[in-house]
Amino acid sequence: MKARAPATASSKIDTPVNMPTAPGPVIFVIFGGGGDLAWRKLVPSLYYLHVNRSLLQQFAIIGVDRAPFSDVTLRKRLMDGVRQFSGLGAVKPKEWKAFAGRISYQRADFGSIATYRMLARRLKALDRAWNAKPTWVFHLATPPTLVGVIPKFLAAVGLARERQRARIVVEKPIGSDLESARRLNTTLTESFHEPQIFRIDHYLGKETVQNIMAFRFANGIFEPIWNRRYIDHVQISVAETVGVEGRGSYFDHAGSLRDMVPNHIMQLISLTAMEPPISFDANAVRDEQAKILHAIQPISDEDVLSRSVRGQYGEGIEGGQRVPAYRTESDVAPDSRTETFVAMKLLIDNWRWAGVPFYLRTGKRMPARNTHIVIQFRQAPFVLFRDTSVEHLMPNQLVLHIQPEEGISLQFAAKVPGPVMRLGSVDMNFEYQQYFGKQPSTGYERLLHDCMIGDQTLFQRADMVEVGWNVVNPMLDLWKALPPRNFPNYASGTWGPKEADELLERDGRSWRNFEK
Ligand code: BG6
Repeated sequence: MKARAPATASSKIDTPVNMPTAPGPVIFVIFGGGGDLAWRKLVPSLYYLHVNRSLLQQFAIIGVDRAPFSDVTLRKRLMDGVRQFSGLGAVKPKEWKAFAGRISYQRADFGSIATYRMLARRLKALDRAWNAKPTWVFHLATPPTLVGVIPKFLAAVGLARERQRARIVVEKPIGSDLESARRLNTTLTESFHEPQIFRIDHYLGKETVQNIMAFRFANGIFEPIWNRRYIDHVQISVAETVGVEGRGSYFDHAGSLRDMVPNHIMQLISLTAMEPPISFDANAVRDEQAKILHAIQPISDEDVLSRSVRGQYGEGIEGGQRVPAYRTESDVAPDSRTETFVAMKLLIDNWRWAGVPFYLRTGKRMPARNTHIVIQFRQAPFVLFRDTSVEHLMPNQLVLHIQPEEGISLQFAAKVPGPVMRLGSVDMNFEYQQYFGKQPSTGYERLLHDCMIGDQTLFQRADMVEVGWNVVNPMLDLWKALPPRNFPNYASGTWGPKEADELLERDGRSWRNFEK
């Protein structure tokens, strides 16, 4: 069963909450401007904002990196990224010319103060040329080790001091455990004030992730049943078909738990489970997110053994092709014990969620790329249809499809036509694309825009990052103390180790898998 899209979707669109204002003059400094993130995500997103006229004429990008590029070689490289990743199709020469004219390059040694002095001179020169005080965004698209270094130098040359206009953007991972995350947060706050720090998690840039809040708090019908009285359990799955894709040197040290859980998956949990904020003000929303993460029941060592599962992919078939085992990927140790799959059961100790399990899983080389949240409601209290062939009732499930299908579906029972009483399970579907059309998105457009206008709602505060690590820290510790003996324990192209299925089966439940 499909909900029909209105003839003109726009007739149904209301004024957006938190309507973004346009950024003023901005200088966007990308540390690591010659690297992968700038090429694949940052510059394609900025180009999208340029094409949509969301940037003023007074906008400049300065790429700062070690490579011996010139302005021209950097622009050429970035144009290739825009063509491939902006989702806008062919790059229009006139648009590109106008955009490329704003890009320049500075070759740098990140460990030398001379780099930062030169940058400061360039920034001040633009103040004079534009006769304005542009916002400075310092985006650290560098290896994590430099996140502890660059802010100190920026502060040393006075570039952090101007609180109204200097902002720093930091990518995940923020640390590799609770302790290192705290250290990094301390380093950051020694140089910048918290309102200047934008810790990015690209999951919050996804429309469908933001839609979780709209769905819950803009509709009166769901909130009354969004609690332990009506909800049996929640499942969050982030399944990927890719392997480590040339990122072995990072991933083999991180593993799936660090890579996905304290950040992306915690965002999904907090938005699904948080209390309604008192407003859409950045701190009001983030207070509620932080509170729910604080309410996650601490995991004891025994819980780690009984309520978490780790796995590593072996070779197998993915999309009809034979693919290699994790241990044979480049930059991965041949006897690596790093997990590429993790599943766990968490409980939230508050009045709304007490006793409702949240099952989470994420893995690489799964049969389908699919991120979704399943809210499974309790069964009807008894089977009314006695003396009929109906013996078993399917539970109602509400599914929030995050990607690649973006939408919401509700599964419920309906009578199958015919003289005999039989029930079938049907779906009511809302598909984003059907209503609103396809929006090109790398996930960074909204986030970079929000950073430029100084809105921190969709960015992680220091306490949120730390509480995310706090949840997974017992697992990191115990897993380190007890290295796995059975890796690889799932074949590529399957839904992970059998223990992940058993985790739910023990509770009389099962994962909902979406194959496409
Ligand atoms: C990144 C992880 O943060 O998110 C990657 O480091 C992962 O390992 C990626 O593949 C998933 O992002 P998305 O947007 O493809 O779901």
